[in-house]
Amino acid sequence: MSVDKAKESAAIAAVNEHINHNVHVIGVGSGSTIIPAVKRIAEMVEKDKLDLICVPTSLQARELILSHGLKLGSLVEYQELDVAIDGADEVDEQFNCIKGGGGCQTQEKLVAICAKKFIVVADEKKWSTNLGDKWKKGVPIEVLPIAYKITKKEIEKQLGGEVIVREGTGKVGPVLTDQGNFILDWKFDSSKVFNWSDVNQQLKLIPGVVETGLFINMISKAYFGNNDGNVQVKV
Ligand code: 5RP
Repeated sequence: MSVDKAKESAAIAAVNEHINHNVHVIGVGSGSTIIPAVKRIAEMVEKDKLDLICVPTSLQARELILSHGLKLGSLVEYQELDVAIDGADEVDEQFNCIKGGGGCQTQEKLVAICAKKFIVVADEKKWSTNLGDKWKKGVPIEVLPIAYKITKKEIEKQLGGEVIVREGTGKVGPVLTDQGNFILDWKFDSSKVFNWSDVNQQLKLIPGVVETGLFINMISKAYFGNNDGNVQVKV
């Protein structure tokens, strides 16, 4: 079975457990693992006649919600979500998490903090002992375009490692987020021991930083699918 099957198994297990008649407003994450999750949500809405409002974490999620005929909401209308389901780039044994591989971490974090339960779905390769063991692209950090050179320099000065300005395919210039900002990927030295909560706070204090892809103490439950289609649940 492929990684896609692993992602799909995790997504379906999470949706089956968390989407039911008791939930009304849900957060919809971004990335590839969320695609089978939305498909399953749409099937349940149709079959079980669920009345759900879906709040997206990105333009991709918005399109996914609309293309499945689901009801769209926003954080302007809803600040209390029953549950949010989202993917992850890496989750460590302390439930520290890196997100933002798709550059959506700012909206993803806003949706996650509004949710009573923040559920992560991923393939098993995303589960690691320490952050950086498996995800080698670093911590995604959304920054104001005007500040990207300053923030890059400041992050490297304060925290070491190397900061890469994320570019699109063809390297035609920095990738723009849904908010029109840039993404820096901070490649940290993964042999070092970090207090990720402190790192997150330190990054957020740097002027020009909009949001980091470090999700600390936010996950309620995580579902990791494996190549056999089995799902490991971590709480
Ligand atoms: C986007 C994200 C995604 O949830 C994360 O990159 C995981 O993606 P995928 O499900 O494709 O592995 O944080 O900003």
